[in-house]
Amino acid sequence: MSDRSSTGGYDPSGIDLDAWTKLEQQLEQSIPHYDKVNHWMTFGQDKVWRKNVRNHAEKGMKILEVGCGPGSFAEDLVGLDVTCLDPSAEMLRVAKKRVDSARASRGEGPAKYVEAIAESIPLPDDTFDRVFCLFSFRDFQDKKKGLEEIFRVLKPGGQVVICDAGKANWFHGLAGRIWMATVVQIIARIITKEKDHPWKGLARTYSHYGTNGYYRKVMRDVGFEDVQGRLLLPFGMSSRFRGFKPKR
Ligand SMILES: C[S@@+](CC[C@H](N)C(=O)[O-])C[C@H]1O[C@@H](n2cnc3c(N)ncnc32)[C@H](O)[C@@H]1O
Repeated sequence: MSDRSSTGGYDPSGIDLDAWTKLEQQLEQSIPHYDKVNHWMTFGQDKVWRKNVRNHAEKGMKILEVGCGPGSFAEDLVGLDVTCLDPSAEMLRVAKKRVDSARASRGEGPAKYVEAIAESIPLPDDTFDRVFCLFSFRDFQDKKKGLEEIFRVLKPGGQVVICDAGKANWFHGLAGRIWMATVVQIIARIITKEKDHPWKGLARTYSHYGTNGYYRKVMRDVGFEDVQGRLLLPFGMSSRFRGFKPKR
């Protein structure tokens, strides 16, 4: 099966601007219930996945989180120099409150916040030891451009770690689409108590999303080394991609 068939005919390389603008509105509407819906739709695995990604950082490292959303991941980055990037001013406002208060409770200074898209990161080359992307890669308008920018801002020898909904192949993608269209919709309906909740639209980003093999190839084309991208067990609901920027 081709990569297009795994997305029901959509282009896995990106999302057009109109669809992305609508998606951003839906993401902002999801903020009040974001963590709770994630928790139930993943059987609590979201916390395990976040810890898995966090464990790639070592004390004192410079970290960039691309697509930080409301700060669900960044608040638990301890002992690190953290920069949170997101295109949504509202997401950044919520993240700043949450992340900086968690940091203050640990005696740490505030994180830095950047309003931008992954495809155009307004930060210098060779800056970060790690770039993390959790559940935001799927939303990039242009996946390759986003990866090129992440590659540029990583220090030589630095690593990117991406965690997002898993799609191993066409068959797995079909199972995921059914899950998103049924169980996730019921959970979101119960939690939000709204008929027109944002997860109606958010499920669509999974349909557009490509397979692990497709994005492993894009990462290699961008220049990442030791590229890996596989489903996280035991449930296979999410995938983790890793790659290094070559040392000079
Ligand atoms: C589902 S939230 C993820 C939040 C958080 N990272 C987490 O661990 O739950 C996705 C975020 O990606 C952001 N996003 C969407 N398109 C983006 C892009 N092109 N570049 C960077 N971030 C983007 C959205 O604004 C949103 O805040």
